[in-house]
Amino acid sequence: MEILEQLFVLAHLLGMAAVVGSAVFVARGVATPALVWGARAQLVTGLVLVGLNEAADDELNTTKVAVKLLVALAVVACAEIAAAGERKGRGSRAQLVTAAGALALLNTAIAVLWR
Ligand code: HEM
Repeated sequence: MEILEQLFVLAHLLGMAAVVGSAVFVARGVATPALVWGARAQLVTGLVLVGLNEAADDELNTTKVAVKLLVALAVVACAEIAAAGERKGRGSRAQLVTAAGALALLNTAIAVLWR
């Protein structure tokens, strides 16, 4: 169980790197596959981590997790709408991509600073 949780934390951190890396540092304004799949991965791996922590009877800060869930849903929404706009040839939606990156950074700060 311990190793499973560690692997999901690793996947969770890689998802965070994909979103923040793409939106903030590499392809500003462009909804890259890394941004979209990273955002989806954060939602899935985060929920799995909650389940694994519950299964191990580890105490989780539920308020913090609920806030992170709402922020992560907003990240997915921004990334999906930006990517759909690009697919349909409506041009890049730079503000949505920036919002996705900024919100992912906010969730990273919440994860690390809210104990
Ligand atoms: C953009 C979305 C997200 C980002 C950037 C993010 C970022 C992070 C980071 C950096 C950590 C490691 C913190 C540390 O170990 O000190 C973490 C841990 C964690 N995250 Fe997220 N997160 C996101 C979404 C979510 C969601 C949606 C959930 C669940 C609903 C979630 C649940 C958790 C849990 C339970 C841990 C603790 C893992 C453990 O130590 O066992 N995260 N997150």
